[in-house]
Amino acid sequence: MRSKILSLTLLVLLLAPFILRAEQGVIRPGESWRDTHGRLIQAHGGGITFWKGVYYWFGEDRTPSNDPEKRYVSCYSSRDLMHWSFGGEVLVLSDPEHLGPKWVLERPKVFANSRTGKFILYAHLDDAHYKFARVMVAVSNRIEGPYKYVKSYRPLGEESRDIGQFVDDDGSSYLIFESRPTRGFFVARLTGDFLNVERTCFIPAPLEGGALVHYRGLYYVVGSHMTGWQPNPNVYATAASLAGPWTDFRPLAPLAANNYDSQSTMLLKVAGLKATTVIFMADEWRPRKLWDSRYLWMPLEMGKGKMHLPSPQPWTIDVETGESALLTSLR
Ligand code: GAL
Repeated sequence: MRSKILSLTLLVLLLAPFILRAEQGVIRPGESWRDTHGRLIQAHGGGITFWKGVYYWFGEDRTPSNDPEKRYVSCYSSRDLMHWSFGGEVLVLSDPEHLGPKWVLERPKVFANSRTGKFILYAHLDDAHYKFARVMVAVSNRIEGPYKYVKSYRPLGEESRDIGQFVDDDGSSYLIFESRPTRGFFVARLTGDFLNVERTCFIPAPLEGGALVHYRGLYYVVGSHMTGWQPNPNVYATAASLAGPWTDFRPLAPLAANNYDSQSTMLLKVAGLKATTVIFMADEWRPRKLWDSRYLWMPLEMGKGKMHLPSPQPWTIDVETGESALLTSLR
């Protein structure tokens, strides 16, 4: 009898990580992340839009079998941020501005405009040499698309490459864009119809992969240095108001970690009943096989003007309570 109980206990202990995993859901930064049908998630350089209790993850679909003449934006949805179901390609676009072979559509982000009831997709649009430097805009009446191409433009008349998205607690929506000639990046509020932007602030730091979050009375901005697909130590700064002044930029992780080989794409705030978790969403690019680029999502340690990216490890989140927990034993 005793040995039976012992072996049962042992079995439960052995299986515990798997049971936990199945029930809770786990985010495993840097590992291949599959959707609810077991297919690799294709949502690189992505953004998250929270709409009516559902998280929508939009990103670059780099599936190798895609038509090389076209660019694809995919959409996944989730209620818990851990299990993602594929909602299809919301934009399949043929070279809209005659940019030529290897034209670029990167970092798509979708903004929900509750006033007009429309959903506005922004992305970085470029030619193979990154000289066009514009944003493109596509619109849909439904968040799940399909989105229809409307136009491309240079926000505030400036060159624009990497873009980011930020929605403040009062619902106002901002486009973040990097502008090389000005040696810095802009945060620009979207106009009423979201089809244009107005100047909000300029941050004089030549950074890309710009992302912002408003946390406990402070704005935190994150960006990476300009090393293309190669990772570098990402940095952050804070300000009491979007207009600045901003503090100096400091590294997000120990310099030697090289941002754990990732590049920022978004900061997602999950404010629950008990706690608030801010998720650092980043891409681990694999330039020779972009389709197999990985996602590094980690809860940040932050507060009082400090922000720290812990070393990647499995973790879980409860979107109701807002609590997240590292599951180091599952490593
Ligand atoms: C990165 C940028 C990516 C992509 C890449 C191309 O710096 O963040 O989105 O444009 O350069 O080299």
